[in-house]
Amino acid sequence: MDVIALDDPTDAQIREWHGVLAAVHAADHAGEPAPTRAQTAALLLGAEPGTRRRLWAVPAAAPDHGASAAPGGFTAVPEGGFAAVALLRLPGAPGAERPGEIDIRVRPGHRRRGIGRRLLAVAAEGLRADGRTGVIAQVMAGTPAVPFLESHGFSCVLTVRGMVLRLGDLPPGRAEELVAAGPEGYRLVRWRGVVPDEHAAALARAKTAMADPAEFAGEQWDAERVRETAEVVAKRGDDLYTVAALRGPVVAGFTELVVPHGAAGRAAQYDTAVAPEHRGRRIGLWVKAAMLRWLAEERPEVREIETDNVGDNAHMLAVNAELGFRVERESMEYQAAAADLPSLSA
Ligand SMILES: CC(C)(COP(=O)(O)OP(=O)(O)OC[C@H]1O[C@@H](n2cnc3c(N)ncnc32)[C@H](O)[C@@H]1OP(=O)(O)O)[C@@H](O)C(=O)NCCC(=O)NCCS
Repeated sequence: MDVIALDDPTDAQIREWHGVLAAVHAADHAGEPAPTRAQTAALLLGAEPGTRRRLWAVPAAAPDHGASAAPGGFTAVPEGGFAAVALLRLPGAPGAERPGEIDIRVRPGHRRRGIGRRLLAVAAEGLRADGRTGVIAQVMAGTPAVPFLESHGFSCVLTVRGMVLRLGDLPPGRAEELVAAGPEGYRLVRWRGVVPDEHAAALARAKTAMADPAEFAGEQWDAERVRETAEVVAKRGDDLYTVAALRGPVVAGFTELVVPHGAAGRAAQYDTAVAPEHRGRRIGLWVKAAMLRWLAEERPEVREIETDNVGDNAHMLAVNAELGFRVERESMEYQAAAADLPSLSA
């Protein structure tokens, strides 16, 4: 089979690439929004600053090179179309420091013929040539990508559960009940957009306390960074809402939610955290319930809220389950050592 490298993709190649993404999406990603042509073009052309990318495709019709053309195969796409594509992201400078990121997509009618494996071997060459020692891949649970990656040296390092709360499913009075049951000695405050000056430093301290030192290398927040993050949301035209639980001047816990501009039916949960010394008092549930009440008053057009839960964050999963969030999809991050990936000669 032919594998072609697309250094500088043409319009026709972008169109073919998009065709593969759309066909794969239809087969594997029920419930997720389909990629648009503009998103595909941005993916292939719009280089992120500081990241290089390499692209490969397997043409669907290859009558002159038909070594792997199985009987009845390669007819579902027009001559010249792509049967499969692969993208390798190379963030930062060449070298072992950071893993590359691989994404392989094979049209459903062309699977189990070794195309995915071949593209992985080609990308592995690209990885090694760039001095990388590792690679990661993001996949949806329950799709063929899981057995594919697990049979090629990858193991799962992270699970992310995408959960959705349909506000219409909340029992009447539930949020009010939870708000009324808040802990003694704490009070709620809320603001829209950028944090008021009086809470900025305290919110930054709460954000720093929430950062898992193992995961984020002790991520530091200050008032300026908190404001800048909120300004980025505002520049996109989205609305950021924050509810915080205060003990004196201290932010003991907070929750943030964003109502996107132009798609206000579904809001996105951002950070929720309770500082370690204030845990065990149901503050997470309290601030989230207060957010639900506020949202109902302020943005009645919001019908559902989506949130991502990373790893085995049992407390946050329990809080979300108590509020009525249901798991909608589960994605996984896989990792492999470049040395364990298939090689072209195999
Ligand atoms: C995952 C994917 C790329 C595999 O492509 P493919 O061309 O079918 O894979 P291959 O034919 O090279 O499979 C190689 C081996 O992987 C394993 N494998 C692949 N698909 C599998 C499946 N559905 N069930 C079980 N094992 C599977 C098998 O061991 C297979 O060898 P075999 O066919 O000899 O048993 C393809 O299913 C796809 O595009 N999925 C959607 C997009 C995606 O999630 N990509 C992953 C991101 S990296």
